[in-house]
Formats: sequence, structure tokens, C-alpha cells
Amino acid sequence: MSSFPSAQASEEDAEYKNISEKHRHLIETLPKHNGWWTPYLYNYNGFWLSPNILKSNLILHSYFKPHPTDIFLASFMKSGTTWLKALIFSTLNRHRYSFSNHHLHNHSPHSTFFMLDVESYPITDFTNSLTPRLFSTHFAHTLLPPCMSSCKFVYVCRDPKDVLISMWHFMNKIRPKDLPPLSLDEAFELFCLGVSDYGPFWEQVLSYWRASLEYPDKILFLKYEEIKKEPEVVVRKLAAFFGKPISEEEEEKGEVKEIVKLCSFENLSNLEVNKEGFEKFGTLVDIEKRGFFRKGVIGDWKNYLSEEMKERIDGIIDEKFKGSGLVFATKV
Ligand code: A3P
Repeated sequence: MSSFPSAQASEEDAEYKNISEKHRHLIETLPKHNGWWTPYLYNYNGFWLSPNILKSNLILHSYFKPHPTDIFLASFMKSGTTWLKALIFSTLNRHRYSFSNHHLHNHSPHSTFFMLDVESYPITDFTNSLTPRLFSTHFAHTLLPPCMSSCKFVYVCRDPKDVLISMWHFMNKIRPKDLPPLSLDEAFELFCLGVSDYGPFWEQVLSYWRASLEYPDKILFLKYEEIKKEPEVVVRKLAAFFGKPISEEEEEKGEVKEIVKLCSFENLSNLEVNKEGFEKFGTLVDIEKRGFFRKGVIGDWKNYLSEEMKERIDGIIDEKFKGSGLVFATKV
């Protein structure tokens, strides 16, 4: 059974027409602000979304039928999504591929997941995928259909200062050529106001943090920095979370080390498949594959942000996270 109606069927589909109508109305009435790579972002239920992504969210709520075995990778943009896709795919499929001739040697990490936020726009059928189906999303947890909460989620977040710098570089790459480049000062102001695709950053992170406290067996909450420091520990965590813990025999064979090596920035960024060509995100956007690999380090923000800028972001995050129990290494 298909999760979404076929494109043809949708033309007569009354619900799809309602969605288009609702979307039109929302675009006319929601608060809006200038965006990073789209002219405007719209504030929908507390989060800033571009028009197409907003429509995708409406479609998701009406049509998406999760399978109990589906696995979702959620993240804020530029927090390590590409890395986690590779880690999750290779951990789950470690019995299927040998490390000398691995699927990821000639398929990009992005190709192993459906990007829920764009694949559903306009309409996608997910029936041909393997089990478990792998999906990624940047939507806040509170923006997702409640029926998805029975599935497993891995969430990855990252120091907001590194997210800001990574996103600023990335957005300038995908920004249409008829718009002037986005300056760092502009990007910084927008970020501090909470205005960025899927933001405010802190609200999106907190939505998963709170859900992970409530449903620890359903949401594995990870930080980019902890994966950098102890990638092997994280691979073991992922395997256990998916109900396929690393066995003693696998440990002895060095499987965990192989997964970490395969998914390392150095390895992935040097593979031909991740250097040439474009990644297609539904019908929405084609992005140069090499754009997903820049430096892959902790603390590159130090090369860009003044002490004053650092203090301002740290201050906002401290205030927003106060009492939540979530801490970032923002003082590093
Ligand atoms: P930088 O721009 O700071 O280098 P996303 O995948 O969510 O879009 O995030 C992209 C960021 O993750 C980029 O950060 C990118 O370089 C980094 N990245 C990509 N692959 C990585 C890997 N295998 N290990 C560590 N970082 C990685």
C-alpha cells in the first residue's frame, strides 16, 4: 500500500486540494521574515519554514503512514546529518555489505535515506524501499504527525556556533544567484532572532530533548561533539538502540572500527561519489554533493565570530536551555 497517493490520483484528490487551499491561506496570513536562501520564511506553529517545506508538512500530516519499523534521523540543518546517515546505514546493514566493497563506496549517505520534508513534495511513494525504511527530517518534533511517535528516532545536535558558521557557508552556496550573498552579520542576526529554516534553533533542539526524556527508548539524543570524541561508543549505542547490539564476535572482528573508518569525514569526503554531481532533494532543490563536506571539525566558529558574538549566542542558549537539563559545550 502506498503511503502517499500517486501524483495522478492527487489531481482529483479533494484532500490535496484542501491542502493547497490551506497552504495558500497560510502564506497570506502567517508572520513572515526574509529567509537565508528563499525570499521569505513563514512562522508556522512556532517554527520558520519556507513555503515549499510548509506545504510538505501539511502533506505529511494528511498522508504519511509510518510503519512501526521505520527509523527517523532528525537534526537541525548542518548538525551532522550526512555523517549520521552513513553511521546509521552502515550499522544497520553491517551484515549485508563487506567493508572492502561497501554500498557507501559508490552511493552517497543521502541516497540511503528518504528526506521526508521534501520527498513528500509534491507526492512520493515510499513502497520500494528496504526494511527498515530510513527517513530524515529537520522538522521539530512538535511539527510531526503524532502517529510517528511510535517509531524510533535518532536526533543529532551540534554547538549552535558551529551550526551557524556551517549554515552560513552552505546557504551562500545554495542561495539563488539573483540574490546578493548573505553576509555573516546578517546570518548572525537572523540566527539570534531564531529566524532560520526550521528554527528557532533552540526550540527545534528542545523539542527533541524533551521528547527524548519522555520516551528514552524511542529517541536517541546525540551530540556531534560526543560522536567526534568517541565515535565507537556511539556506534555501539546506535546498534543497541536498533535492537541489534554489537556482539563479542563482531567486536573481535573490529566491525565497530570499520564502521567508524568508513563513515569518517576523511573517508567519505574523498570518495568520488561524494565529490562529483548533485544530490537531489525531491523536486525542491539539487545541491552539489561536495557541499555537504566542508571541514568537519569542532570549533571552526572561532575563525569567524568575535568574542561579543560568541557571548551573545552563548547567552541566548543558556537562557533558553535553563532548567531543561540540556547543556552544550558552549563555553569551550
Ligand atoms: P562544517 O560545515 O562545519 O564542516 P549536515 O550533514 O547536517 O548538513 O552537516 C554538515 C556538517 O557536517 C558540515 O560541517 C560537514 O563538513 C560535516 N560533516 C559531514 N560529514 C561528516 C563526517 N563524516 N564527520 C564529521 N563531520 C562531517
